[in-house]
Amino acid sequence: MTPAPDPPATAGVDLHPGGRPVMEARGISKHFPGVVANDHVDLALYAGEVHALLGENGAGKSTLASILAGLYQADAGELRLAGEPVVLRSPREALARGVGMVHQHFRLVRRFTVAENVALGDRSQPLVMSTPDVQRAVVALGERYGLPVRPEAVVGDLTVGEQQRVEIVKTLYRGVDVLLLDEPTSVLTPQETEALFGTVRAMAAEGKAVVFISHKLAEVVAIADRVTVMRDGRVVGSQPVASTSVRELARLMVGRAIDLDVVRPPQRPGEVVLTLDHVTVDHDTRRGSLTDVSLEVAAGEIVGIAGVSGNGQRPLAEVAAGLLAPDHGRVVVGGRDVTGRGPRAARAAGLAYIPEDRLGTGLAPSLTIAENLQLTRPHGPVLDRRRWTADATRLMQEFDIRAPGPATTTSSLSGGNIQKVLLARELDAGPSTIVAAAPTRGLDVGAIDTVRRLLAERRLQGCGILLISEDLDEVVTLADRILVLFEGRLVHTCDAEGADITELGLAMAGAGR
Ligand SMILES: Nc1ncnc2c1ncn2[C@@H]1O[C@H](COP(=O)(O)OP(=O)(O)OP(=O)(O)O)[C@@H](O)[C@H]1O
Ligand SMILES: [Mg+2]
Repeated sequence: MTPAPDPPATAGVDLHPGGRPVMEARGISKHFPGVVANDHVDLALYAGEVHALLGENGAGKSTLASILAGLYQADAGELRLAGEPVVLRSPREALARGVGMVHQHFRLVRRFTVAENVALGDRSQPLVMSTPDVQRAVVALGERYGLPVRPEAVVGDLTVGEQQRVEIVKTLYRGVDVLLLDEPTSVLTPQETEALFGTVRAMAAEGKAVVFISHKLAEVVAIADRVTVMRDGRVVGSQPVASTSVRELARLMVGRAIDLDVVRPPQRPGEVVLTLDHVTVDHDTRRGSLTDVSLEVAAGEIVGIAGVSGNGQRPLAEVAAGLLAPDHGRVVVGGRDVTGRGPRAARAAGLAYIPEDRLGTGLAPSLTIAENLQLTRPHGPVLDRRRWTADATRLMQEFDIRAPGPATTTSSLSGGNIQKVLLARELDAGPSTIVAAAPTRGLDVGAIDTVRRLLAERRLQGCGILLISEDLDEVVTLADRILVLFEGRLVHTCDAEGADITELGLAMAGAGR
């Protein structure tokens, strides 16, 4: 391998006020086919600090965290713990050395109890047996760090926020000095996020180093002491949070100024383009349920569904998009009753669908970008590959999809770029109704800005949009009307203009029911 050029000098970077880092990455590089995910990355973590890791989609944050946590091995460079070079061959080995990571997709065993999950992987404990010792330890850790969990609860019955607490308790139980949190707040209510911040502060106060990966700049400014920004696999800056601002961080990340407000000029909604009429979906453990949900979306309006994920968002989106036949009730798209007639009927009636699991229902991971962009289009008997490539090239440009080319396999893209492929396909079809589930989850500020603008633009062009999002700010920013979904029911309705965030947060948590 030819040595890469030296990283750009990070002039003006304030070095940490002394002391030896608890953990250090020196010159870490990691390549994936066609991509340099980490390019000579240096990172120093100090005891007692909350260190935010920021960067656009695909910048290399998760890769770096995964290397620190022993999940991936670097191609070059060195890791040090308390000044000593170490090789971390697995997450187990990293944990034993005091480095733990909470991934965005939890790795708990759903049918085990909390205490069993905590004990799992600890070699000093008998295989999956939760002793009273473990149970007591779980309760004690919960009290010490503000992480209330019931040790005897079965993980599969817990909310996403509770499962996250279990993940954190699990690492604390193993006695970590360094905790890596990969986008921990993307699934939490505002109240749960506040509680998590309390925990993070308590850990830092005890001298642990906490790495906080997030796309939400306001959160970074609220919780972190220092922030390191990555772009294209490299570190482009590292500084104390006190000396920066949300706007400057956005500019550093994206390399251009970002206006974080979406303008939403008022307009009179047109005729109804999507109706859910007394829709009920009986309980199913995979999807959850819906109980007697009725709503209408008119042309030129965005109806936002707020709620913590797992409260019926999935059946709601799938029923609206025709993927799931309701047990009771009707679905009407563009004046046509499409109840139980499948996704093609909904599509033919003018509906576009941006599903929450992009690589499940949305895209075929093993196909190329060009192929995925054609997937839902009607085509003639002859496949016109040349036109596919031309289409893909145009859409990659228009939607800023960053990949080596149209023939790149979709599964190798970063989360944000995968989402852009999906949006490009759906919005390019010229729909009159859009069902968008978590359309900006996991996207960086630049991409969020793009997606929100695209949706706002479609609204102005007369599209009716059902926006299902656990990001309350997003719903309040984009929607005309807000409905709150809790345990499969619509429990609260209000206009977005002047909406009370606290009240919405409480409704999302099921208060008042
Ligand atoms: N297992 C893998 N195989 C191939 N390429 C990968 C793999 N994991 C990551 N990459 C690539 O490495 C680059 C960095 O990805 P990474 O997931 O670290 O980005 P990120 O900063 O966490 O982005 P996001 O904000 O979208 O989560 C991307 O171009 C991605 O496509
Ligand atoms: Mg990531």
